[in-house]
Amino acid sequence: MTEDGFVEVVTETRLAERVAQLGGRISSEYADRNPVLVGVLRGSVIFTADLIRHVTVPAEVDFLSLTRFGGQGRVGIAMDTEVSLENRHVIIVEDIVDTGLTLTALRRLLELRGVASLATAALLDKASRRIVDVALEYRGFEVGDEFLLGYGLDWEGRYRNVRSLWAVMDLPALRRAPDSFAPVAYRRR
Ligand code: IMP
Repeated sequence: MTEDGFVEVVTETRLAERVAQLGGRISSEYADRNPVLVGVLRGSVIFTADLIRHVTVPAEVDFLSLTRFGGQGRVGIAMDTEVSLENRHVIIVEDIVDTGLTLTALRRLLELRGVASLATAALLDKASRRIVDVALEYRGFEVGDEFLLGYGLDWEGRYRNVRSLWAVMDLPALRRAPDSFAPVAYRRR
């Protein structure tokens, strides 16, 4: 669907199907491991909530948030998990991997904590923009390099609650008028 400079790239139905598949794979691969799924705030909240309901083995859920320093992918943990990750089978849950710098830095930080194993589930992969190669054990969709919104992804805090995933075709226009996506995003079905 294309409307006024916004293109729906993944529908609600496709999102739900793919998230169910990823949850199914995690369930069989972690059957006896009681993993901790760690959602990276705030973009992965919706994906995490949907994914964990398709994980049908005992699992825990926690969250952390990151701060970024400079442009070189240096990150720190702003809000940490409550659960200790030492000796745990950790699955990082990310919304989108772009350059890969954030995920690489986060994996390094978590490895220092003596995890038993570490994997990543990312809903979206902007593979063509990768700067550093980083392992992605569970991947929802490979996407192009357009700026994406909805299903957790935001523009200045807006639009995380849009139910499907959209690409912004004219980013300068959205920058000038941040509310311009609202009539499309929240149109009643
Ligand atoms: P990376 O370090 O370049 O891989 O950046 C990953 C982070 O950039 C994600 O966790 C998002 O917060 C943000 N990001 C990258 N692309 C998009 C997008 O298209 N829409 C919204 N956020 C994005």
